Amino acid sequence: MTWLITGGAGYIGAHVARAMTGAGERVVALDDVSSGIPERLPPDVPLVRGSSLDGELLRRVLAEHAVTGVVHLAARKQVGESVAQPLRYYRENVGGLVTLLDAVAAAGIRRFVFSSSAAVYGDPPAAETISEDTPCAPVSPYGETKLAGEWLVRATGRAHGIATTCLRYFNVAGAAAPELADTGVFNVVPMVFDRLTRGEAPRVFGTDHPTPDGTCVRDYVHVQDLAAAHLAAARRTAAPGTDLTVNIGRGEGVSVRELLTVIGEVTGDTRAPLVEPRRAGDAPRAVADVRLAARELGFTAGLGVREMVASAWAGWCLRHPEAGPARPL
Ligand SMILES: NC(=O)c1ccc[n+]([C@@H]2O[C@H](COP(=O)([O-])OP(=O)(O)OC[C@H]3O[C@@H](n4cnc5c(N)ncnc54)[C@H](O)[C@@H]3O)[C@@H](O)[C@H]2O)c1
Repeated sequence: MTWLITGGAGYIGAHVARAMTGAGERVVALDDVSSGIPERLPPDVPLVRGSSLDGELLRRVLAEHAVTGVVHLAARKQVGESVAQPLRYYRENVGGLVTLLDAVAAAGIRRFVFSSSAAVYGDPPAAETISEDTPCAPVSPYGETKLAGEWLVRATGRAHGIATTCLRYFNVAGAAAPELADTGVFNVVPMVFDRLTRGEAPRVFGTDHPTPDGTCVRDYVHVQDLAAAHLAAARRTAAPGTDLTVNIGRGEGVSVRELLTVIGEVTGDTRAPLVEPRRAGDAPRAVADVRLAARELGFTAGLGVREMVASAWAGWCLRHPEAGPARPL
């Protein structure tokens, strides 16, 4: 098989490319390099520079590389930006997916893996864990584009005999190698690193949530484990036209305070956080029920928060030498 990975030069896409080639799969990447870094890709993975909105290019790539399966990660992913620019998010995330699925169906491709997000659940009830049956109620245009994307993927799969998998990632962190680390400052771990590097205390939004230590609880998953979940989803033997929608997390809650403790241990910077009021729309607790992933994909995340923080810090220090060298684990 040959797999097309859209968004392959991105943070997660490059990890997926590495995991898939490492397991012996043939891979070609498509990326418009709007936020991607071509050097992240393994040397044996060809990169086609172009957009998922370019139907003609997609048809050519699928034919020229004899693509037999697609892993679709290319998307815009900033929640705040999606609130300010909903049309752009619908055009690129949903429009790009329509264009891609059109080309995939026309090429007779039978396997499709879609990068979804826990953002589809919105502000879920503070239950113990979030299962795939929890009602989806996204609270941002970004989350809406992911939910609409799942609908499109499932409907197209059923109509055209494509086996589809939608992976709902929880909080992704870490790096398999420093040069593969996330360069954006949109998630909590790089946001804290950014504050520390500026000599500022990390911020905590709310210490009065209904959680054991009052701070928000999240489910963090190492990007290397996430990449392994993509490989498992790609290799899943499923009948044409069937679909699977599955959470990808650790199934373990970590509070912001606990995360800051680990960050302090790894960076050596243990300054006290600045407590700010709660932010509107921040769910107190969002932890995945991961039993379906174990059952259907044989996937269980192995790496813990300490590995995530230490590897993310090594990547951060590579790009921010002023932050100081990472401490050994
Ligand atoms: N990082 C997270 O915490 C997280 C959580 C849940 C879901 N996701 C999803 O995972 C996917 C990858 O996210 P990431 O963190 O690697 O982000 P990223 O920005 O590093 O990667 C996205 C890649 O897609 C490319 N791209 C964007 N729009 C494109 C288009 N129209 N055509 C071709 N290439 C395009 C970018 O250049 C980039 O290389 C996204 O779909 C995102 O919504 C990410």
